[in-house]
Amino acid sequence: MKVTVVGAGNVGATVANVLATKKFASEVVLLDIKEGVSEGKAMDMMQTAHMLNFDTTITGVTNDYAATAGSKVIVVTSGIPRKPGMSREDLIGTNAKIVKSVVDQALKYSPDAIFVIISNPMDAMTYLTLKDSKLPRERVIGQGGMLDSSRFRYYLAEALKAAGIPATPTDIDGMVIGGHSDKTMVPLASYATFRGIPVSQYLSQEAIDDVVAKTKVGGATLTKLLGTSAWYAPGAAAAALVEAIATDAKKMIPCCVYLDGEYGEKDLCIGVPVLLGAKGVEKIIDVKLEGAEKDKFAESVAAARHTNSLLGDALK
Ligand code: LAC
Repeated sequence: MKVTVVGAGNVGATVANVLATKKFASEVVLLDIKEGVSEGKAMDMMQTAHMLNFDTTITGVTNDYAATAGSKVIVVTSGIPRKPGMSREDLIGTNAKIVKSVVDQALKYSPDAIFVIISNPMDAMTYLTLKDSKLPRERVIGQGGMLDSSRFRYYLAEALKAAGIPATPTDIDGMVIGGHSDKTMVPLASYATFRGIPVSQYLSQEAIDDVVAKTKVGGATLTKLLGTSAWYAPGAAAAALVEAIATDAKKMIPCCVYLDGEYGEKDLCIGVPVLLGAKGVEKIIDVKLEGAEKDKFAESVAAARHTNSLLGDALK
């Protein structure tokens, strides 16, 4: 199975690297507009093949979309990352043009591909991809919820440790829905568990609120530390989506998808749990939202609609 990753920056290269180590893809094509970058990163990764014991061929190309032909999944990471102090939404003007052009070119060579969108602001870029490509909605998936849920698990594990309970992120189950946005993502604390037990049994409301707040600005915290946006967890999150599609896992993962009546919303791409499999989005899963979490999801929907309105001419 062939996967293309467009954009050989930190995130794109991490996606390619993680995909190779997961071993299910026969070929990963890494494409970038900067001459030599994807070729160099692909060669560097191929020189780990013996040590990491993978047979995936990673090929780096400069803007050569013909080399991506016949891909089952195309991961779009292209665009500028945010700098400290910027929101993901600040990137919309620049990244809309880039994402549109990438999707148009990639689709010519892989008309049956499933698209995984990472470029920010991701919810709007997913909506733009869907509208521009006119692909069926099950084939356009934005990655944000997997990453944000992973950060949520990390911060919950840290809070449990601070409360004297040894915990690691793999001990935690928890999900973040809504937009992939600092202000409006919705960590579902009421459903989060530590080894099957609600985290509220071990953490005070104050500690849970602190975890929720830290999760929401998880990306911004890293952007401040790194001077650019994060890549290890975003890359691993995208690779997890590709794996679920490639292996027809039908795994429940929160993804940004087009809603057509689900959650009472229409004509919007936002994060909700879905089953991911060979067709892409196999099913959208309904979760009963109550109280503050329901209100927060409604706020997130409103914010995503506002960001989509900023797409303006890009949608034409
Ligand atoms: C983040 C960026 C990649 O959350 O959206 O780290």
